Amino acid sequence: MSDVRCIGIATGGGDAPGLNAVIRAATKAAILKHGWKVIGIPDGFDGLIWPEKSFELTLDRVSGILPRGGTILGTTNRGNPFRYCTEENGVEVVRDISDQVIANSKKLGIDAIITIGGDGSQKIGHELFQKGMKIVGVPKTIDNDLSATELTFGFDTALHTVSDAIDKIHNTAASHHRVMVVEVMGRDCGWIALAGGISGGAHVILIPEIPFSIHNVCDFIAKREQSGKRFTIVVVAEGIKLPPELKQIAHGGPVGNLVGDAISLISNKEVRVSVLGHIQRGGSPSPYDRVLATRFGVAAVDLIAEGGFGKMVALRAGSIVAVDVARAIGHLKSVQPDGELVRTARAIGIGFGD
Ligand code: F6P
Repeated sequence: MSDVRCIGIATGGGDAPGLNAVIRAATKAAILKHGWKVIGIPDGFDGLIWPEKSFELTLDRVSGILPRGGTILGTTNRGNPFRYCTEENGVEVVRDISDQVIANSKKLGIDAIITIGGDGSQKIGHELFQKGMKIVGVPKTIDNDLSATELTFGFDTALHTVSDAIDKIHNTAASHHRVMVVEVMGRDCGWIALAGGISGGAHVILIPEIPFSIHNVCDFIAKREQSGKRFTIVVVAEGIKLPPELKQIAHGGPVGNLVGDAISLISNKEVRVSVLGHIQRGGSPSPYDRVLATRFGVAAVDLIAEGGFGKMVALRAGSIVAVDVARAIGHLKSVQPDGELVRTARAIGIGFGD
């Protein structure tokens, strides 16, 4: 059991629908179940660099935030206190200000902190834990690529957005007999492209884990054409590994445009490209994400009460468990090219350009 009376909550890295649901659940459980005070730490750990920015999270303060996308605490994917970039006399310098962050959290009366974030934020949390801070992690990323947890909140909401976009693109693709390329997020892994592509009825899915050639994609489109299907939807994960023929013409813009340009050159079809971008990160969390985020928030508070510091909550076999952050960080959960979801997609005729 821990002797905690006050906890801090911080959100770091890219936002994801469901962050507010975690903040709300953790705040409510901390106050109602344990009688603790809760401090909101704004913009990642910035609220501990400038402690005057931090503020109390009360039941009133978290009322009504469940359906809201984003994070009421703000976030940043810069601001690592161990490698803090600042400008001194016009020169950029990198400093370790972690001692200042720890001292400020003590000044605020914070006994333990919940860090809600992806791999980068959990790594920072772990480094602070090694310096004696009482940290508990909650995993987050719309990419769903953290190996320690079967699912992260935000992924399901992103899939709703992608699926809805592909449904709409389907209509116009069929009307105009075009090839429509849809670029989705997924910096390192193809989960959004794979699951979003299957749920949206895409015909070709290109992901970082499966090497492809643009000629194979064009052959696939030609075969569809021969069978009377005059339109094709190609879903492209932003993190695809470019084959040599695309590397040659790479222009630094969205990879979806590159794939679209190459298809249009080779297949002589009319091609249009939609880059879904950050709309995938926004919007009201889906019911599934609200429930998962709430379970994570409550479990994180319970973990603090049990003294389970240096741990992160995770979903395994449908249950919420605690895992060591040290073991959780740095391991991506890639799509298995011969895994069940890829085999399912192939079984219904989806091409991967390989
Ligand atoms: O990791 C989540 C993610 O949405 C990736 O899919 C994407 O590449 C990245 O964040 C974009 O981050 P930002 O534009 O916020 O730097």
